[in-house]
This record gives sequence, structure tokens and C-alpha cells, in this order.
Amino acid sequence: MEFLVDVNEGDDVERVIDKVALVSGGARGIGAAVASRLHGEGARVVIGDVLDEEGKETAERIGSGALYVHLDVTNPQDWEAAVSAAVETFGSLGILVNNAGIVNFASIEEYTLEQWNAVISVNLTGTFNGIKAAIPALKASKGGSIVNISSIAGIRGYEKIPGYTASKFGVRGLTKSAALDLGHHGIRVNSVHPGVISTPMTAGLEMDMSRVALSRMGHPGEIADLVLYLASNESSFVTGAEFVIDGGDTAGTVTPPAGA
Ligand SMILES: NC(=O)c1ccc[n+]([C@@H]2O[C@H](COP(=O)([O-])OP(=O)(O)OC[C@H]3O[C@@H](n4cnc5c(N)ncnc54)[C@H](O)[C@@H]3O)[C@@H](O)[C@H]2O)c1
Repeated sequence: MEFLVDVNEGDDVERVIDKVALVSGGARGIGAAVASRLHGEGARVVIGDVLDEEGKETAERIGSGALYVHLDVTNPQDWEAAVSAAVETFGSLGILVNNAGIVNFASIEEYTLEQWNAVISVNLTGTFNGIKAAIPALKASKGGSIVNISSIAGIRGYEKIPGYTASKFGVRGLTKSAALDLGHHGIRVNSVHPGVISTPMTAGLEMDMSRVALSRMGHPGEIADLVLYLASNESSFVTGAEFVIDGGDTAGTVTPPAGA
């Protein structure tokens, strides 16, 4: 058996050069950080969102090689248009980041069917729609990477967010099924499971981080770094896998130092 040792090409190589990425929910928060990070490493990026003004501003801030399109992830036609925009503007599609998400709150007794349908249609069906729409373009690129943003609520249960938790477990399962179906096309599919991250989604929520190993919330850029790895060829043997990035939240509970 031959053992190959890869030679690192050097730190100055842009990690996703010549790739084109589509990031849903990219107007702000984690999605905006992901779009910016991928662009900074050589990719051209299409940002899709329902927040048109914020999305355009984000694309302008990122600069040349970033394009905003209106994309409601619950709408398959919007997805077709977003994929076409990537291919027509930048020539191909190699990276899809299914990041758009919403959360709503109530205990299961009070949780309404409307709340359930809203969160499932964006977080889970939206991810399904994105995968479906991107497959032809990813196949035309002779492969690619799909990164689905789940949550630690896709790893363990949380009270008062039944729909969100179900949607994020769903994204985790969908990821594995899609990875199995698409592997022979060279399309990799992985899920990312962030802990509490400081974004507009968590603004105003009371979060006690003192019992988490790293005792703090995460930053969107920290999630973007992991997505960059999964989007790049550095993760060429990684598919169907789940990546927890939570400062140790799901590892267990720590006792805060006395006086902290
Ligand atoms: N912030 C956290 O603590 C945290 C933790 C775990 C997972 N996540 C997940 O990360 C992802 C990004 O969350 P965030 O914290 O950046 O939230 P955010 O609210 O700041 O950003 C979410 C983005 O998704 C967009 N969006 C909502 N509905 C949409 C739709 N129908 N079509 C297209 N875009 C839509 C929003 O307009 C917004 O720009 C979500 O999937 C979220 O569930 C967040």
C-alpha cells in the first residue's frame, strides 16, 4: 500500500479561489460572516435573503465579486433564480451554504401549528429546496460542497423551541441522506451545529454562558471559519458528518469559578 503525504501549498494560497458560493440568509449574522470569509479567500459569492436592503448593503460592503439576490428559501422558484444568477454572473456554482433560519418560542402545550409550519418551512424545507435547486449546477461543476447550518438544538433537546429543535434535528438527518445520495457525484454534504452565537437572532435573549467550558458566546466569524474549511478542498474526504462548534456547551456542564 502506498502512503501519500500531501505537501501544503503554502499559507498565501486563497482557500476557495475560483469557486462560486451561494449563501442563504446572507444579509446579516452568521450568513454575512460566511459570505465575507469565503469572498476573502477567493470565492465569488451570491447572497440570498428576504432582507433586501440589508442584503444589498452586505454585498456592497463585501465588494466586487459579491451579488445580492432576493431569495425566500421557502420558494423553489426563488431558489432556481438564485442558482441561475450564480451561474450566469459568475460562471458556475460549487458551494451552497444553507444558512437561512428563524426561531420562535413557546412550550409544546402553547406552541401553535402556525409557529410549527413557519419554522419548519424556513429551516427544514428551505434547506431541502436549496439542495434540490443546487444539484444540477453542482453536478455541472463536477462536484461541490453543501454546508447546512443546523444548531446544537439539532444535537440535543431544548425547552420552549419545539419547532426549531425538530427542524434542526431534521437538517442533521437530511444532511446524511443527501450525502449518501450525492457522494458519487463528488458532492459533499455536511452539517454545522453552532452553540450560542452573538447575532441579531440572539440579541436581547438572556443567555447564561457561565456553565459552558469557554464561558462565552461565539462570534459569527468563528462559524465562518468552520464553513470555509467545509467549503474548501481541504475537507475533500469529509461528507455526511456533523460539526459541533459551541465552546463546549454540549460537552457537559462546568462549575463557574467562585466569585465569577
Ligand atoms: N445565533 C445563534 O446562536 C445560532 C445558533 C445555532 C444555529 N444558528 C443558525 O444559524 C443560522 C443563521 O442564524 P443567525 O444567528 O445569523 O440569525 P439572523 O437572524 O441574524 O440571520 C438569519 C438570516 O436568515 C434570513 N432569513 C430568514 N427567513 C428567511 C427566508 N425565508 N428566506 C431567506 N432568508 C431568510 C434572515 O433575514 C437573516 O438575514 C440559522 O439557521 C440559525 O438557526 C444560530
